[in-house]
Amino acid sequence: MAIRPFEQHTPQIHATVYVDDTALVIGDVEIGEDSSIWPMCVIRGDIQRIRIGARTSIQDGSVIHVTHDSRFCPGGQPTLIGNDVTVGHKVILHACTIEDYCLIGMGSIIMDKAVVRSRVTIGAGSVVPPNKVLESGFLYVGSPVKQVRPLNERELEFLEYSAQNYRRLRERHLQTIGVDNAAASAPAPSPKPPRPAPKARTRRPAPPKRG
Ligand SMILES: CC(C)(COP(=O)(O)OP(=O)(O)OC[C@H]1O[C@@H](n2cnc3c(N)ncnc32)[C@H](O)[C@@H]1OP(=O)(O)O)[C@@H](O)C(=O)NCCC(=O)NCCS
Repeated sequence: MAIRPFEQHTPQIHATVYVDDTALVIGDVEIGEDSSIWPMCVIRGDIQRIRIGARTSIQDGSVIHVTHDSRFCPGGQPTLIGNDVTVGHKVILHACTIEDYCLIGMGSIIMDKAVVRSRVTIGAGSVVPPNKVLESGFLYVGSPVKQVRPLNERELEFLEYSAQNYRRLRERHLQTIGVDNAAASAPAPSPKPPRPAPKARTRRPAPPKRG
């Protein structure tokens, strides 16, 4: 995996997180316990911060970025993602907030200052326009998204299942590449102060065992 600092910020990634070798995480990024970052994701916290909670999966090819401080956006805008969130394949999250237990459908785009309240499902291929707030407990679909209906019990249950499913899959991938599973109970590294780490960090698969 490539984990790179940007200026004074180095990504703070809990020891239990799976970051695929082909993913790229840069700068002011924190990722919580048991989360997973799948192949070809780009998480670029250079001009504002990115926070990803615990047991959240960011699936293949997704891109997460932020907005910088300017007169068009005073203070800039971070991207904040909660716990137990499933971000499907090839999603773009740009300077937005996603609360706990959401499912962001494959190929969706969520734009600046949009807020997705907890326990929302967004259908595949949806676009959430800037500043839009999606109400908790509903299904949203389309471009631009429209509220379709409240999620039923089974769908609400699925949001929790999905987070746990990816938590388990993360563990199988870590085992396959030979990362010590004891790390699963390690405490989160302190987010401050940032560690200077001029070189990219690369995790390589363990050599095959003999005998
Ligand atoms: C939206 C979704 C949740 C299904 O909701 P649903 O209410 O069960 O929808 P149905 O399958 O009964 O379809 C209802 C209508 O919505 C349409 N529809 C389904 N998914 C849609 C989508 N993503 N965007 C637009 N329309 C969609 C269907 O074609 C159907 O239209 P019709 O009534 O004109 O025939 C599902 O299709 C989806 O997009 N899930 C996201 C899955 C994903 O990306 N997971 C992440 C990877 S792990």
